[in-house]
Amino acid sequence: MSLLEEAAKAQPKAYVPYSNFRVGAAIRTASGAIYTGVNVENAAYPEGTCAEAGAIAAMVLGGETEIAEVAVIGDSDDPVPPCGGCRQKIREFAGPDVKVTMMSRTGKELTMTVGELLPGAFTPDHMAE
Ligand code: THU
Repeated sequence: MSLLEEAAKAQPKAYVPYSNFRVGAAIRTASGAIYTGVNVENAAYPEGTCAEAGAIAAMVLGGETEIAEVAVIGDSDDPVPPCGGCRQKIREFAGPDVKVTMMSRTGKELTMTVGELLPGAFTPDHMAE
């Protein structure tokens, strides 16, 4: 299965009673393992979490911290872009050349790098002594 297919397989499991907007995300790590996530909403709206955050949490639980590739699929007409917060979350574990492929519900696809999605990012390097 491709990474996008993995994201699409996860997407129906999203918990979205408030937005009804399902997002699935898949991460391939340096080891080749794949971790998926979905958005999980909450009655206290800001407590909801994005699909990318779920996939990152699963990756870290799996003992991995190096993202090699990301795929995201959403119920939008255009390929769903990771939100600003998720761009920062991805950047924590991915270099600027890592590819993020986004897909719409209609199958439109767009690939950008992490550096294009979040130029000038604040990274762990900034805190290195
Ligand atoms: N959402 C994601 O899961 N990932 C994104 O990158 C964009 C937004 C979710 C959050 C919320 O559950 C729903 O989409 C509508 O904003």
